[in-house]
Amino acid sequence: MDGRNFFFAAFLAIALAGTSHAGSEVDRNDRIEILLKQMTLEEKVGQLTQQVRYNHSKPITDDQDLNPVPPQTGSVIGFYGAQATRQLQHKVIEESRLHIPLLFSYDVLHGFRTIFPVPLAEAASWDPDLAQRTARAAAAEATASGLHWTFAPMVDIARDPRWGRVVEGAGEDPFLNSALTVARVRGYRGMDASNALNMLATAKHFVAYGAAEGGRDYNTADVSERTLREVYLPPFRAAVEAGVDAIMPGLNEIAGTPMHANRTLLNDILRRQWGFDGLVISDYKGVDELMKHGTAASSMTAVHLAMETTVDVDMASGLYAKDLPALIKSGEVSQRSLDDAVRRVLQAKQKLGLFDDPYRYSDPTREQALTLTPETRVLAREAARKSIVLLKNDGDLLPLSKDLRRLVVVGALAADSSSTLGPFAATGRPNESVTILEGIKSAVSPTTHLVYVPGASSDGEEHSEIDEAARAAMDCDAVIAVLGESSDMSGEARSRAFLTLSAAQEKLLARLIATRKPLVVILMNGRPLAVPTVAEQAPAIIESWFLGSEMGHGVADVLFGDVSPSGKLPITVPRSVGQVPIYYEHKRTGRKPDTAIADTSKYIDQLWTPLYPFGHGLSYTTFTYSAPTPSKKKLTFSEVLSVQVTVRNTGQREGEEVVQLYLRDDFASVTRPVRSLRGFKRVKLMPGETRAVNFVLDQDDFALLDKDFLRVVEPGMFTIFVGGSSTTENQASFEVTQGDRLTGLGSAIPRMLRAPSTLNERLVSGED
Ligand code: NOJ
Repeated sequence: MDGRNFFFAAFLAIALAGTSHAGSEVDRNDRIEILLKQMTLEEKVGQLTQQVRYNHSKPITDDQDLNPVPPQTGSVIGFYGAQATRQLQHKVIEESRLHIPLLFSYDVLHGFRTIFPVPLAEAASWDPDLAQRTARAAAAEATASGLHWTFAPMVDIARDPRWGRVVEGAGEDPFLNSALTVARVRGYRGMDASNALNMLATAKHFVAYGAAEGGRDYNTADVSERTLREVYLPPFRAAVEAGVDAIMPGLNEIAGTPMHANRTLLNDILRRQWGFDGLVISDYKGVDELMKHGTAASSMTAVHLAMETTVDVDMASGLYAKDLPALIKSGEVSQRSLDDAVRRVLQAKQKLGLFDDPYRYSDPTREQALTLTPETRVLAREAARKSIVLLKNDGDLLPLSKDLRRLVVVGALAADSSSTLGPFAATGRPNESVTILEGIKSAVSPTTHLVYVPGASSDGEEHSEIDEAARAAMDCDAVIAVLGESSDMSGEARSRAFLTLSAAQEKLLARLIATRKPLVVILMNGRPLAVPTVAEQAPAIIESWFLGSEMGHGVADVLFGDVSPSGKLPITVPRSVGQVPIYYEHKRTGRKPDTAIADTSKYIDQLWTPLYPFGHGLSYTTFTYSAPTPSKKKLTFSEVLSVQVTVRNTGQREGEEVVQLYLRDDFASVTRPVRSLRGFKRVKLMPGETRAVNFVLDQDDFALLDKDFLRVVEPGMFTIFVGGSSTTENQASFEVTQGDRLTGLGSAIPRMLRAPSTLNERLVSGED
């Protein structure tokens, strides 16, 4: 019998056996409750177990391939491919007693086969609509390959570029991060669970994983309750408000409790306060690591702790399967906790429509049609262009002419097709990515003599071609040096103690500078790099991160002026590793840095300002701003304030500007940051064009957590800053004349994303 019909028949028999209204359609919730009643303890525990099974899309060829996945397993990580998932699903449906379908999961962070810019790069676009569309496209490809569930978005705030995982998130700022989180969650899961292009989204790693000491991955995070609530928790709450399906705890501990056993944060805050009723899935062997943290002497205790913390699914450790049955039998873990966890797994399967058709995601025709299409490439190119940040452009060296006589490109990264994709590139293939060198080649005129010399790589190796590169540069109209780190140097477990270029790259750079030829440095990296020499001596610098399948084309589009760069830094770039952590939203001190006074909060051997501030990014055109005009000079806590600013394109070219609004609470009962991002808008302006840009602020923006962590608006003066970076001094002030205590939590979703976006409206109406 065909697996699907078999499933229906078997399921219906079981369902009808347990219900009195035979013949009528089985209610969806009843269906899960009926199933729960039928399940044995082992079957329940199986649903909470996630097996690791990377198959690289290969179909199953013999029984050996199938055996490691017992039929009652709840989910698998790493197994994909329309045909392969269909086979494995079939085995599970056929061989399990209750025919409960499997969930197939994967880390789909910035594309599946078509690779989009790494999340940090995409954050530089400050374009939530774009982030939603790339997540959507990733979901379309991944689901066509049989996948149901992604472990993304990664929403950790990252203020320490030594930590390699800064590349996976949206940078240092809670507001920008929350906006992109909401967009990505909407992109992955869509609005309509019945659509097989949608996948379950997971916000990770709950919480403050990015605050690891010294930037050492997996390390202790020691953060105050205030910092947790104000900085690290908001993007997670935005994800929950946006309907995220799952949460993954981090592998860190906070204040003595590993996250996989942190009841205060998971049970009290996430589940109770925020009302999250979706899945919590452990990080890879996170349950097992409770023993390594020294908070569980045995695997039994580890499982007990994790279950008490409502960690529903055990990824990879296998400890639930081993120890949970005994804990249930002894009553140490209640039947109710078990059922609640199983119910959440079944609900996720139901949400995806798998009980109606367990094979709906495994469709080889769809896989063929939707994978790496011309359309996804166009989107990848758009995303690449928008993610590029022009850090410096002295003398308007850029854009370059496409008709240069002789153009020299140096740097091994220019032709490194793996680094082009970046870390966590899912199933992206280097041979399907366009390197910077290829992009330049395809952009320049046929008469341009293009010379490429690798010269130096990022891994510290000396290259004999440094001389050759310098010689080539002696005779050229411009030299482009692609420098930075390879993709393998950023990502998980890629902490760095130095944020510099390799010695070979530094040497190459010095030789190029000595030629006095027009020099453009393109940085490729997954984290901010402290490159003061580049900043001082190279006239033009492009931050190009790892931009994915269409990197080369996107970079060439900007290099040669087909588009004006419009990205803005989502994270501060330090001058040296000694300045870390450094971020714009810092607190004031009693000793504001002042070079003229001795004892202030600064370094004696380094400037205290960053190399490039958060929000910085140049364009080929210029923009001027009017002073911001608040609609009122005085208002009460319950009133809404609108702020208008006029932006003008004063240059010669069309360009897009990301208009940023920051807010400072001038005096309060607790210390407040020097400024906090509270709004941003991307505007496109033709030369000479002027546009009025409006922002709306309300009590969610004016509020703070007082000494007792109550949400209040306090009366007093506020300052608004509006401009093209976090250092803008274009300001105005207003006064809140009457404050109050606020009820509820307020919304963590930035206002511009609170109404369903146009994309989602299109999705719902089936236009996607
Ligand atoms: C460990 C990582 O911390 C997590 O982000 C990822 O989802 C899992 N491995 C699965 O690959």
